[in-house]
Amino acid sequence: MQRFLVFEESIYPAAEEFLEQLEQEARAEEVPIIRKDTQAYLRSMLLILKPKRILEIGTAVGFSAILMAKHSEAEIITMENYAPRIQKAKENIRAAGLNERITLLEGDAEELLQGIEGEFDLIFIDAAKGQYALYFERIKPHIHGGSVIISDNVLVGGDVLESRFAVRRRDRTIHKRMRDFLYDVCHDEEFESALLPVGDGLLVSVKK
Ligand SMILES: C[S@@+](CC[C@H](N)C(=O)[O-])C[C@H]1O[C@@H](n2cnc3c(N)ncnc32)[C@H](O)[C@@H]1O
Repeated sequence: MQRFLVFEESIYPAAEEFLEQLEQEARAEEVPIIRKDTQAYLRSMLLILKPKRILEIGTAVGFSAILMAKHSEAEIITMENYAPRIQKAKENIRAAGLNERITLLEGDAEELLQGIEGEFDLIFIDAAKGQYALYFERIKPHIHGGSVIISDNVLVGGDVLESRFAVRRRDRTIHKRMRDFLYDVCHDEEFESALLPVGDGLLVSVKK
């Protein structure tokens, strides 16, 4: 994996200056943001889907929201519950000149999802891994045929591939929840889903 990370750094062109700098800052401060291959995948999806409305769960400091805004014409709603990151995300969104396009909702996604209105063309789930099944259910009333839900970090650093006995005891709840989530969504007849080894694992689910 380490070899792949080094290789992909050399393969993708540098992002535009604002995003490149934001990415470097986030990495220096150990803020977990999407990797280069996930960025490339999202950019491709944005070109294909041409979404008008995007919902993101898990803003961190706004990197992926800003990337999606810069590579689409979509209105974006994003959610974050960690105060220091909310502050930083607000500053970054303002500095990117994207206040009009990106709305940052502050608080627990579980609750915020109960208050959202309308339909979204693309949903990017990138928050508490143990809550993905709940997020997915809360999103269902807000999608249409052709909407795409991308769930990030579903391989949980590779743990999901291991037997439950091979993962640390304290990680077993997430291990079970993520395995159940993957199985349930892949067997949900309302969706066509693909599990991709991009970043830390993406589950891409298209509403039929
Ligand atoms: C992996 S980071 C998001 C990275 C971001 N999407 C990017 O690539 O630029 C996950 C974020 O979700 C936030 N988060 C975790 N649980 C949450 C919850 N229940 N409600 C809202 N945000 C949550 C964390 O504080 C963290 O900043």
